[in-house]
Amino acid sequence: MALTIIIVKFVFLVSTVYSKVTLENSGFESQPTNLTTNSTSQFVLLNSKTNVIPGWSFNGTVWYVTAGGNISLPGNGHGLQLGPNGVINQTFKTDGSYYYTLTFTLAPSSMNCASNFTAVNVSGSDESKVFIYKESFGSEMWQTYAYSMSREIQRGIMGIQFQSVAGSNDCWPIIDTLLVNGIGSPRLYGDNGFMNSGFEVGPAFLDNSSQGILLDDDTNEEAFKVVQQWTILGMIKYIDSKHYAVPRGRGAVMLVSGNPSGILYNRRFSRHGKITLDFIMGDANDSCVGDFTVYLQVGNYMMWNFTMRSLGVGSRVRHSVTFKAEFSKTESVPISFSSFNVTRTSDQQVLCGPVIDSTVIRFSSSKILHYEPVIFCFVLATVFLI
Ligand SMILES: *[C@@H]1O[C@H](CO)[C@@H](O)[C@H](O)[C@H]1NC(C)=O
Ligand SMILES: *[C@@H]1O[C@H](CO)[C@@H](O)[C@H](O)[C@H]1NC(C)=O
Ligand SMILES: *[C@@H]1O[C@H](CO)[C@@H](O)[C@H](O)[C@H]1NC(C)=O
Ligand SMILES: *[C@@H]1O[C@H](CO)[C@@H](O)[C@H](O)[C@H]1NC(C)=O
Ligand SMILES: *[C@@H]1O[C@H](CO)[C@@H](O)[C@H](O)[C@H]1NC(C)=O
Ligand SMILES: *[C@@H]1O[C@H](CO)[C@@H](O)[C@H](O)[C@H]1NC(C)=O
Ligand SMILES: *[C@@H]1O[C@H](CO)[C@@H](O)[C@H](O)[C@H]1NC(C)=O
Ligand SMILES: *[C@@H]1O[C@H](CO)[C@@H](O)[C@H](O)[C@H]1NC(C)=O
Ligand SMILES: *[C@@H]1O[C@H](CO)[C@@H](O)[C@H](O)[C@H]1NC(C)=O
Ligand SMILES: *[C@@H]1O[C@H](CO)[C@@H](O)[C@H](O)[C@H]1NC(C)=O
Ligand SMILES: *[C@@H]1O[C@H](CO)[C@@H](O)[C@H](O)[C@H]1NC(C)=O
Repeated sequence: MALTIIIVKFVFLVSTVYSKVTLENSGFESQPTNLTTNSTSQFVLLNSKTNVIPGWSFNGTVWYVTAGGNISLPGNGHGLQLGPNGVINQTFKTDGSYYYTLTFTLAPSSMNCASNFTAVNVSGSDESKVFIYKESFGSEMWQTYAYSMSREIQRGIMGIQFQSVAGSNDCWPIIDTLLVNGIGSPRLYGDNGFMNSGFEVGPAFLDNSSQGILLDDDTNEEAFKVVQQWTILGMIKYIDSKHYAVPRGRGAVMLVSGNPSGILYNRRFSRHGKITLDFIMGDANDSCVGDFTVYLQVGNYMMWNFTMRSLGVGSRVRHSVTFKAEFSKTESVPISFSSFNVTRTSDQQVLCGPVIDSTVIRFSSSKILHYEPVIFCFVLATVFLI
């Protein structure tokens, strides 16, 4: 009975915060029309006058790619390579979400193109971001990235566009496996002053991928965060419980790069008082062996460090700190978790590091930290009614 309630509660919470939007031909498995039957080449140049890619518009140099040989893609089906001036786009109907995240896979066309030479420019209706393939963050010859978008092209319609970025070495990006998540507005639950405290709200994971999603600096302050409410410092990996040891729920963040790798939350404190902040630190059961150090910093002056020796077998510890909040009500106080060390998995030499999950911040007394009061009461009430 109790378990049922917990499950119902979890499903309910999750179902209110994200939805899945369907893109057409999101993995390019429906092949372009008018392909000549003898085009067995791994790269087929498409002609925008005679070929139609179901679901997509395209222009410039675009090749239809079949995985195999040196080209590896998730599920090893098909992808598109964007050559000189190559651009593809698709529009989709919005479903009333607050904003959307796009998950996609980027692959280089050869070993020579692996690190820093393969890049793609992704845009929503107005903003854009260039993603660069990084070799050492995964064990496959492709990587999964995510982008957030919020502007509609017209009422109820959003667009996504991928455009080639001239790589050095004649390297052109290959794109595959797109997913779009509709993200609900941020919510507080219970007396926890962190929204998205367990990193449950973020980009959609590829079902079959054990690579996680590589996320880097959200330089655009205005844009919605891919991992809702959290700013990314350096490079991190967003990991799922299906493929990694995740302390709680289905998502967590792994601080991977050093230099630093971290996450940051800005919040205000409505009153002065004693605050308790706790979180779980662990390893992802990914053979990441080494010494982890995570620095927790609150504001400009308060800093703690936490260390653990990881054997890479999924161990975890809950840490807790208390401090006095004496900030002005209008001050936005940065709270960050970061790691500066470089660790690699013992099996494949992939960059890895400490996992952070289940963050909680509250007044040590029973006073509630935040002012945004209404929504969580509603959610709690509804949960208890169920
Ligand atoms: C298909 O075969 C025909 C006849 O052999 C040839 O003229 C044409 O170039 C081939 N097309 C491709 C895409 O290989
Ligand atoms: C196939 O190509 C021919 C010209 O080569 C064009 O007339 C026709 O409309 C194309 N069909 C489709 C379905 O794109
Ligand atoms: C395709 O690209 C060409 C040259 O860059 C441009 O003139 C043309 O308008 C584009 N077509 C579409 C449909 O975007
Ligand atoms: C794979 O790449 C290597 C080195 O770049 C090249 O020699 C080889 O021909 C490629 N194999 C295929 C099947 O393209
Ligand atoms: C691609 O963008 C163009 C111009 O914005 C638009 O007319 C077209 O419908 C888009 N293609 C798809 C498949 O949504
Ligand atoms: C890629 O770029 C990063 C940052 O600029 C640099 O540290 C790294 O050494 C580069 N890697 C390669 C293989 O060039
Ligand atoms: C990326 O694409 C957008 C939209 O087409 C464009 O405005 C921007 O200049 C491009 N950025 C780069 C670096 O190519
Ligand atoms: C995941 O893998 C299974 C088994 O290999 C396959 O049947 C399924 O189609 C894959 N799903 C996706 C989304 O690639
Ligand atoms: C961690 O903090 C302790 C004291 O709290 C300090 O002695 C130690 O040097 C710090 N370690 C690192 C790696 O910063
Ligand atoms: C770690 O992975 C192994 C096998 O991959 C599994 O048996 C074990 O239960 C996992 N441990 C944790 C803590 O998830
Ligand atoms: C981790 O980084 C800290 C700070 O840069 C450094 O003091 C420490 O020696 C590093 N630890 C390891 C194991 O590399």
